[in-house]
Amino acid sequence: MGADNEPHVAWAGPAQAAPIPPRELIERTSDRRPEQGDELFIREFYEKAGRRRKAGIIEALPDDYSFERRRVLDFGCGSGRVLRQFLPEAASGEFWGCDLHRPTIAWLDEHLSPPLHFHVNDEIPMPHPDSYFDLIYAISVFTHITHEWSAWLLELHRILKPDGLLLATFCGPEFWGKMLSSPPDENGLGMCVQQLGQRPGDNSSGARVLHSPWWLRSHWGRAFEILSLRSSGFARGRPSHGFVLGRKKGVSLTRDDLERPEPEDPRELQAQRQQLVVLEEEAVAMRERWERERARTAVMRKGSHLGRAFRDRMRQVLRNALRNH
Ligand SMILES: C[S@@+](CC[C@H](N)C(=O)[O-])C[C@H]1O[C@@H](n2cnc3c(N)ncnc32)[C@H](O)[C@@H]1O
Repeated sequence: MGADNEPHVAWAGPAQAAPIPPRELIERTSDRRPEQGDELFIREFYEKAGRRRKAGIIEALPDDYSFERRRVLDFGCGSGRVLRQFLPEAASGEFWGCDLHRPTIAWLDEHLSPPLHFHVNDEIPMPHPDSYFDLIYAISVFTHITHEWSAWLLELHRILKPDGLLLATFCGPEFWGKMLSSPPDENGLGMCVQQLGQRPGDNSSGARVLHSPWWLRSHWGRAFEILSLRSSGFARGRPSHGFVLGRKKGVSLTRDDLERPEPEDPRELQAQRQQLVVLEEEAVAMRERWERERARTAVMRKGSHLGRAFRDRMRQVLRNALRNH
């Protein structure tokens, strides 16, 4: 797929006139579901969400940033609602989108390439050579990547040009109250995973990951010079994501280099504790559901769906606990 393809559908018009994906692909990654079902309404809902995020990207980038002749990657592009807003800029630049979800990428590739380019990024390395992109943005993607975060961050670092920019949104403190039973203060959380074991699939973007600004500065800051970081306010959502804008540093790092806790920083220990609290709460809730289910059916069937889900979740909990200690 992508840049070397023979053009099978030429799309040169503005985003508003481009074909829109089937509803299930739009809804898969939407935080809100449009209630009305007619195509016009869905198009408006989808376009509006994309336009807002494009405006958020432009606002987050340096003031004089120009897309002219840039190579840009929308990492985790989902249904393409943001990337398609860059159709006008794609006339002079090279715009790529990638995602794990094959059906979505197949649709986008069939309908919007050219001028956009797509690929499924289900493994590292991605197909791009070193130092390829000027800009990579990831809107609500590291909010779903769990223990593989460091591998993907290094991969994005590899394919960025020297001085290339990475813009990523994250779920900062404004979200925690909505997501945690007893949200800590800003220093009490680092990177914290919820719904561990939930994979990106046809009905979900995957597990949920919360980040604190200090933790991003400390860990992502090892690979990227942090140009700006806001704990909320991206695209003026409510509640809104935070965002981090970093410039690639000329360093060669391993996953351990990124993940290693800052030895002198007491917030690291607090962050580990917070992660364990969340995992424990989830394991308890899962166990309670499982026991209710068992009582309801009166027979514990070894292969039942909940039994399997609980075992998988417990395996993940243990793996994570071992990894962190
Ligand atoms: C909440 S959606 C956001 C989609 C898009 N960025 C947007 O704003 O419309 C998260 C997307 O990230 C994708 N995703 C999760 N982990 C990924 C990974 N490691 N690489 C690429 N995409 C990933 C999911 O499949 C999903 O489409």
